[in-house]
Amino acid sequence: MKFFIDSANMQEIRAAAAFGIVDGVTTNPSLVSKEGNQEGFEDLIKEICDVVGGPVSAEVLSTEYSLMVSEGKKLAEINENVVVKLPMTEDGIKATRILSDDGINVNVTLIFSPSQALVAAKAGAAYVSPFVGRLDDVSSSGMDLVLDICEIYGHYAYETKILVASVRHPMHIAEAARMGADVATFPYKVFTQLFKHPLTDIGLERFIKDWGKT
Ligand code: G3P
Repeated sequence: MKFFIDSANMQEIRAAAAFGIVDGVTTNPSLVSKEGNQEGFEDLIKEICDVVGGPVSAEVLSTEYSLMVSEGKKLAEINENVVVKLPMTEDGIKATRILSDDGINVNVTLIFSPSQALVAAKAGAAYVSPFVGRLDDVSSSGMDLVLDICEIYGHYAYETKILVASVRHPMHIAEAARMGADVATFPYKVFTQLFKHPLTDIGLERFIKDWGKT
């Protein structure tokens, strides 16, 4: 399973990349805005691409498909690893088809149902992003959606990868891996939580203490 960091914070991205187990990055307008970096968006994406030698999702802000296409093409020119992120709307799907046919990788985001994931795959999306945490937030099972998409894609030869997004804790990632999802993207905080288990800390403390007894 591939690990992507869901962040627009260069400090977090560099820190995560230093572990050598990060395969890519996803950003969205909220994350970029949180860093106060709307003006320098293209430079930010370029910098992320320089740090992480893998797919970097950059989201368009246009909502009309021809504008999405031109904005997406401009983003794709930044670096060959840029994946153009488009929302799961009618215009988004038209733009996905056009950009995908043009050889540009597209990540269709804001996926909340199996039928949306099916439509995105048919449009040639390189990735679909089911938002598991936001479904959990409204008392629906985010991981059930991932399972449904894995099952549906398993019946056909779509090349679309399942990118589990809106991840809130390590169990989302473990479950996604168990289901065979291709990628999970998660915040830096969740990345660090992946390493932790209290018994590891207790065990290490005991080893060091016991060694000191002899
Ligand atoms: O990048 C999209 C997604 O991961 C956002 O997550 O936590 O805002 O629902 P969240």
